[in-house]
Amino acid sequence: MLDTDQGQTVRLDDYRPTDFLIHLVDMTVRLFEGRAEIETRLTLERRTGTAPDAPLVLDGDELTLERLELDGTPVAADCYEASPDHLTVSGLPESGHFTLSIGTAIVPENNTKLMGLYRSNGIWCTQCEAEGFRRITYFLDRPDVLATYRVRLEADRRAAPILLSNGNPGETGDLGNGRHFAVWNDPFPKPSYLFALVAGALDVLKEPFETMSGREVELAVYTERGMASRATYAMDALKRSMRWDERRFGREYDLDVFSIVAISDFNMGAMENKGLNIFNHKYVLLDPDVATDGDYAGVETVIAHEYFHNWTGNRITCRNWFQLCLKEGLTVYRDQEFSADERSPTVKRISSVRTLKALQFPEDQGPLQHPVRPSQYREINNFYTATVYDKGAEVVRMIATVLGRDAFRRGMDLYFDRHDGEAATIEDFILCFEEAGGVDLTQFALWYHQAGTPTVSVSESYDPDTRRLTLSLRQELAAGAAGTGTAPMHIPLRFGLVGSNGEDMDATAEAGAEVEGDVIHLREPEETVVFGGLAERPLVSMLRDFSAPVTLKMDQSEADRLALARLDPNAFNRWRVLTDLIGGALQEASRNAQSGGQIRFDPLITDAVIAAAADDGFDPSFRAQILSLPGESEIARMLGENVDPDAVHTARTLLDRTIGEKGRTVFERLRQEFATGGAFSPDAESAGRRAISNVALDFLSTVDGPAAASRQYAGARNMTDRMAAFSILVHRFGHEPEARVAVSDFFERYSTDELVLDKWFTIQATAPHGETVETVNVLMSHPAFTLKNPNRARTLIGAFAAANQVAFHRADGAGHRFVADRLLELDAINPQIAARIATSFRSWRSLEPARRESARETLAKLSEDKALSVDLRDIVDRSLR
Ligand code: TRP
Ligand code: ZN
Repeated sequence: MLDTDQGQTVRLDDYRPTDFLIHLVDMTVRLFEGRAEIETRLTLERRTGTAPDAPLVLDGDELTLERLELDGTPVAADCYEASPDHLTVSGLPESGHFTLSIGTAIVPENNTKLMGLYRSNGIWCTQCEAEGFRRITYFLDRPDVLATYRVRLEADRRAAPILLSNGNPGETGDLGNGRHFAVWNDPFPKPSYLFALVAGALDVLKEPFETMSGREVELAVYTERGMASRATYAMDALKRSMRWDERRFGREYDLDVFSIVAISDFNMGAMENKGLNIFNHKYVLLDPDVATDGDYAGVETVIAHEYFHNWTGNRITCRNWFQLCLKEGLTVYRDQEFSADERSPTVKRISSVRTLKALQFPEDQGPLQHPVRPSQYREINNFYTATVYDKGAEVVRMIATVLGRDAFRRGMDLYFDRHDGEAATIEDFILCFEEAGGVDLTQFALWYHQAGTPTVSVSESYDPDTRRLTLSLRQELAAGAAGTGTAPMHIPLRFGLVGSNGEDMDATAEAGAEVEGDVIHLREPEETVVFGGLAERPLVSMLRDFSAPVTLKMDQSEADRLALARLDPNAFNRWRVLTDLIGGALQEASRNAQSGGQIRFDPLITDAVIAAAADDGFDPSFRAQILSLPGESEIARMLGENVDPDAVHTARTLLDRTIGEKGRTVFERLRQEFATGGAFSPDAESAGRRAISNVALDFLSTVDGPAAASRQYAGARNMTDRMAAFSILVHRFGHEPEARVAVSDFFERYSTDELVLDKWFTIQATAPHGETVETVNVLMSHPAFTLKNPNRARTLIGAFAAANQVAFHRADGAGHRFVADRLLELDAINPQIAARIATSFRSWRSLEPARRESARETLAKLSEDKALSVDLRDIVDRSLR
């Protein structure tokens, strides 16, 4: 079954369990220069109830079979069939355990897809999720086949003094000839996608950790030679994550060792292999000279995310890949909660909502739309999406809102208890919360199955005579590309009724939709709620903390919104109401710029933003969020149709300058107060001070020119401040000598540090001018650039396509064609990365006609290419659909 090699559609409805169980995987991996030999001895058993003559069909991918034995005897030629994609064995015992020994040999050095076993800077490492294990050995490579593993690694001691795999360390020893071996035992049954091995000359940072029940665990972070000193923050984040999961969810670590390995060539952020997490080194290696505050926050989040997978993903895994959100949505929810507790909950929520709107909303509103739990796919790699991860986390968050904190925790406890050691489904998960909360989540479950962003419209009327407020609520879900249903959903709306004194008023819901504490449960297409006992007309603060992933349309006057921006006790909503006001103004200004009309910004709105920035009652990081205005992609998304990125850019630039001029004294004061001189500390509060100081510098530069940014660039004592200045120079003053000086200085300073050069590539690739197409083309042949490394491909080509509306959508189509040509080159090397970058075309239909036609033509031409990988073809074809 489940064969994606030809890109056929895999359907949830076709799911059935395997005919065979694998109890034990006993592997020996011999690593040599240019070759790896793998011997896998499987202990198997035919599942009771399956046909006694059913053959065993194992998955492979680009494999050649070297050897095959059944219970120690070579299998007769007429009893098996081997191809690169499959190994089919017939005549197997009807009952009882038997062993099958499979020999394969591969060349890790030639593995440019970075799936399976490959080499990165000389280090042997693996990536098996989702279907990489089948590139190492023939196997039932699906997540519902759980086995215990014993792994013996052999390698040259000089090339690979460190030999790691999952589980606890076992026997080690010498083999003569300069070779040695190490054995690893993983007692926890796991699916093959969690298999990992690492071998190489690595440095290590080790620290002990005592779990809540007093067990000793050895924590280790492995890096390339000379880099272990950059792993201290990652180690600290790991310990905090472990402690937090004990406190918040009662989850304890379960092996004697926990290792993280930082690798330079890696397809995604990181991977939660049991006891042996493998990371893109970007999410491990830090120090103040090379990493920004954003990098620190990213490391903390990813370390936590992968660690939390040990329970949500590993101990309880997924029945099939359709259940991906079971581990990913839940684990993102958990890492968001961790960051909220470690930093500011409001600021964390704002940044999660920004990410959701920037990445998930366009996906949900375009041709790549799919539900949180998809029911079909052609290439599973393309479903590691913002919908599965981030909307998946929102759905878990809504469950917590609907149940309340205590019942939610009971539901999680029940889930861990009931499904530990199993491959579970979304239905299993939901049932735990229905039982723990005593609630019916049938309607709620539509969030997993119906794609699209619902719109919730709210209008209000207050009757001073009866002192009643009536809210009329309406929900709508448009049919989209996924073709899933549009039935009304259960939408939890957190709200407050704010009095003129800035406090929430006590009100009793007298009629209409169910109201529970500060949550309205909207379940019908249209509902009203009547609140009584309101001495004055309240300001309605709706969708507090973004309690549901919807588009909110409030029928609310500008005066009320501006009042809420000053008064709402819910800080998140103060940010949101201002962002909505600014967003509306930017849409109008963009349309005016496009039609040659006059652009004016309502001074009440710009003044409100400046006033919030000046408000010392808020912490600096929150004020910095208020000043981070909606970006050009976000404005384009809000416009939704006939988008001209040049007009959007003009509008946005003019707004920056308007605010810069009007807020000048405020920004100067903020610079004085918060521009840091002292020693660097990565904590959230210090980061907040740097953030507001740098955003103030940005606004001041729009008025005063590049001099201050140049000074900050040259004198910066940490990467956060240097990058902020560098970005201002290149993005705002790209044609001035100051920018050119900074570009060459930056390269010289950091020419040996690939992670910093990634920033250099990205800043140049995202400079909002048409000529950036040519700049990026030139950078392609820079010695520090290679398409083979995913970080390089992402930071140059990916950033250009995803974060440079003006140049990517250049009117003459040069940006589209440039990216398409690079996609073809990249596709031959690493289809997964090519497919990911190609998703930047997803919003092409909302462009103005000329650009829309250019994008369509480019995609159509790609689609005609017979050599496209399944990965890239899937994205291109769905984008055109
Ligand atoms: N499970 C990983 C995570 O979210 C995702 C991942 C890492 C991945 N590497 C991958 C998915 C390669 C697909 C392919 O933590
Ligand atoms: Zn994950």
